[in-house]
Amino acid sequence: MKTLRLQLRFLIPLLLTLVAAAYLALPLMDQLTLRWFARDLNTRGELMANTLSDPIGEAMAADRTRRLQTLIDRAVQDERMVAIALCTPDGVLLNRTSAYPKTLTCAASTALATQPDPRMRIEGGPVHVGVHPINTENGRIADVVLLHDLSFVDRRSQDTRRYLIILIAGLGLTMALITMIVAQLSWRGWVSGVRAIMRGEGLLSPMLSPTSGSPPPELEPFANDLRARLRDLEDEYRRAQGPEAEWNPDRLRALLHTKLRGDQVIVVSNREPYIHEKEGKEVVVKRPASGLVTAVEPVMRACSGTWIAHGSGSGDRQAVDRQDHVGVPPGHPDYTLRRLWLTPEEEKGYYYGFANEGLWPLCHVAHVRPVFRESDWQAYREVNQRFADAVVAEARSEDPIVLVQDYHFALLPAMIRAKLPRATILTFWHIPWPNPESFGICPWRREILQGMLGSTILGFHTRYHCKNFMETVDRYLEARIEQEHSTISFQQDTTLVEAYPISIEWPTEATIASWSSIEDCRRKLVERLNVGPDHKIALGVDRFDYTKGILERLHAVERMLEKYPEWIGRFSFVQVAAPSRSSLEEYKSFQDRIHMVSVRINERFGRAGYVPVHLLAQHFPHEAVNELYRGADVCVVTSLHDGMNLVSKEFVAARDDQQGVLILSRFAGAAREMPEALIVNPYHVEETADALMRAITMHPAEQRERMASLRMTVREFNVYRWAGRMLADAGRTRLRERIEARVQRHQDNHVDATPVY
Ligand code: G6P
Repeated sequence: MKTLRLQLRFLIPLLLTLVAAAYLALPLMDQLTLRWFARDLNTRGELMANTLSDPIGEAMAADRTRRLQTLIDRAVQDERMVAIALCTPDGVLLNRTSAYPKTLTCAASTALATQPDPRMRIEGGPVHVGVHPINTENGRIADVVLLHDLSFVDRRSQDTRRYLIILIAGLGLTMALITMIVAQLSWRGWVSGVRAIMRGEGLLSPMLSPTSGSPPPELEPFANDLRARLRDLEDEYRRAQGPEAEWNPDRLRALLHTKLRGDQVIVVSNREPYIHEKEGKEVVVKRPASGLVTAVEPVMRACSGTWIAHGSGSGDRQAVDRQDHVGVPPGHPDYTLRRLWLTPEEEKGYYYGFANEGLWPLCHVAHVRPVFRESDWQAYREVNQRFADAVVAEARSEDPIVLVQDYHFALLPAMIRAKLPRATILTFWHIPWPNPESFGICPWRREILQGMLGSTILGFHTRYHCKNFMETVDRYLEARIEQEHSTISFQQDTTLVEAYPISIEWPTEATIASWSSIEDCRRKLVERLNVGPDHKIALGVDRFDYTKGILERLHAVERMLEKYPEWIGRFSFVQVAAPSRSSLEEYKSFQDRIHMVSVRINERFGRAGYVPVHLLAQHFPHEAVNELYRGADVCVVTSLHDGMNLVSKEFVAARDDQQGVLILSRFAGAAREMPEALIVNPYHVEETADALMRAITMHPAEQRERMASLRMTVREFNVYRWAGRMLADAGRTRLRERIEARVQRHQDNHVDATPVY
């Protein structure tokens, strides 16, 4: 429609111009043809006068009037001749043919013939008047007046007029067609140009100044206008979509009540959601740096129930009651935290040993060798059993819903199933699952798979991990795998293997209102780094873990400063690294190495008042991390392998100003959901360095476009949806099992009642 209007805007003036041209051209054309014919007729007249000179001279010398009459009567028979007259040089009419007007005197005809338009109208139609001298040896003896028929000129000029009109119309149509095509093409070009402005790239990018990234000044107001309009439309769209699509605590609670009849929910994880730590005489509550806790905690707040976890804090025992229970969140408890105590030996073997030196590197395939010790395996089994016993102790019915979390509890599902056969066990594996060959390294691979297959539902972040798991089972166990239904039947049990990409809680309006403004967060950050307000700041937030690609990230920062030295002094990188598993040798040496590389980069590029890399190897509370997210220009996630990575989603949720750029590793599960980030291969230092450069120079319009889209995804695919989908699947399974049990009972009764003859 827009194109049509645009084309009409071109076409109407074009057609009007053509009509005006025709209006002016036609009379000119008439005059021109008349002039050509007049010249033609004069030449003809002269020729005829020459031809008649001798016979007329002779007839006049012999004074033969009849002969003269015969001569002109014959001459007038020429097809274009209407009448002829003969005049003496002094203007006396001697002879005339019959059609010659009586009123036309010799003087009058001579006067008319010398006019620029020697035309007159007689009875038969328009004629051209020509007077030509008859010359003999004795000089001019007479004048012959020739009246030529002009009606054929009219006919010809009408023909010419018709051809001219056809020509102009044809020309007009061709021009209109060309205009339409050109308009169509330029409209498309224009539209993509505008889109490019919105993104701050594309067609206009050659015109953008390479440093500022702004569109040319003449397009700036136009671009601003469009951006504002698009933002409004986006908001409207989101408002319209919001209530329909959104998963929130209420919807999750409702699902729990309708599909699961409000049955008890028990979560089991190694890491507890709240840690009581002694600080001097005080006991403070801390939130651990754990993606698992970030995701599951809001779900538990919505569902209530019991969360069983290792009580690892120095003040944990002080906080619990006699059943080792404490209501959390502190101050306004929504659910119960049941703490389980581990001896240092148990913790060493089960947590540090088998889980973090064995399964963690095994599943991440991040070039750290897994270590499998018999004693660790022993501790792992025992601790899993202790947690299984705790689940049984906490269960208020035969069929609770148990949410088993992560690689610390691979054996737990089968152990719970043994004691509570009717429990619904949802196991979620928060880390990647490797291919069968890699998993085959584990000496207890069969036991681990059997343990996991005690689950009703087994969840991974991606379909790829599900596929790896099914192939692993296929390789090492005698099980029936139904790819179509994504189920594995092993011994008596069937497990549904499904992808449930985990996420975060989308901040509520009240949460957002409690945040410091973007400007304040920015100001605090630049003050902390002691840099100017325009200084570009990239941020990394991770547990201090070798799978997070922190070393590769530092190499990229170093390469960027080397490749683009104009940024030395204008760009800094802040790495928040929460200490993690530091008593393990592999972690210790990795963390030392990161410290050393940071120092080296700072020595190489730093100078008075400028520190390129700030390594903050300490635990930051969530609110402080959120402030960093809101103050930074770029967030860098370069995991070498990651199940999902929730830092990427937290950063996006924090940026309600729709600014900021996310650089995201293609080896993090999140990359599948967040293609609007700058996706990198962290092993490719050059690519990551260029992505950093691109991120710090990205036009705000492009940042907005990418961020708005990312925010829509994370908002919709939030953690309530993650839990909701799993619980809905659990609800369906429970319903089916109940129906099957009823049918079975019915059949059994029927068999019992059958009389035996
Ligand atoms: C990963 C694991 C979680 C774990 C977290 C923190 O996200 O999947 O299970 O809680 O790391 O590690 P930590 O060993 O400190 O609990």
